[in-house]
Amino acid sequence: MSKPLTIAMPKGRIFEEAAVLMEKAGYDLTGGMDETRKLIIHFPDQNLNIMMAKPMDVVTYVEYGAADIGIAGKDVLLEQDRDVHEVLDLKISPCYISVAGLPDQPLSRIAPKIATKYPNVASHYFREQGEQIEVIPLNGSIELAPLIGLADRIVDIVSTGRTLHENGLVEYEKITDVTSRLIVNPVSYRLKSKEIDIMVQNLGRIIEEEEVS
Ligand code: PRP
Repeated sequence: MSKPLTIAMPKGRIFEEAAVLMEKAGYDLTGGMDETRKLIIHFPDQNLNIMMAKPMDVVTYVEYGAADIGIAGKDVLLEQDRDVHEVLDLKISPCYISVAGLPDQPLSRIAPKIATKYPNVASHYFREQGEQIEVIPLNGSIELAPLIGLADRIVDIVSTGRTLHENGLVEYEKITDVTSRLIVNPVSYRLKSKEIDIMVQNLGRIIEEEEVS
């Protein structure tokens, strides 16, 4: 048997949907995962190893070849611009990146403060609008920033819109849609092309079937 494929999976909200998609495509990952705190789980029957990673770190593991394949949000790929191949739109965990803030608050004229965990996406977006901004980098609970006067706006993910709504914030502009993508390490793509292509085809078939149904 060939060497196993190692897949970096994002812990948290994407994981469930990704695991369901993998299962439908013929890779049953549920058996070894329940109630474990293990970070590397082996599936010898399927010739797979699964690494459980923070969503923002999946791309790093794949770029450095610690994992052959990863599942990462388009938001993370846009922010990090790493040397990995994006081979498939898995069309799971749809959401979008938006500019939001308190209602009826005009943007300050000089270098408005934008709180975000996507400094590159935010800077690029505002530069294209002709605005120079000051980025306030945060790692989570970004919605706090305008509430406490730390920032004029936030650039963050909107999924259901509930977090914005419950904190009295409104959307100003949508920046881009986001779904999860299958990414591949460029060297693995050459050395394990057969196994990887089979996985891409299996997943692609399920994604197409789900789209037409
Ligand atoms: C994300 C995002 C928003 C929220 C949006 O945060 O940063 O805060 O989800 O989801 P909603 O539109 O469905 O309310 P996450 O839950 O990942 O946690 P974080 O605040 O620690 O980043």
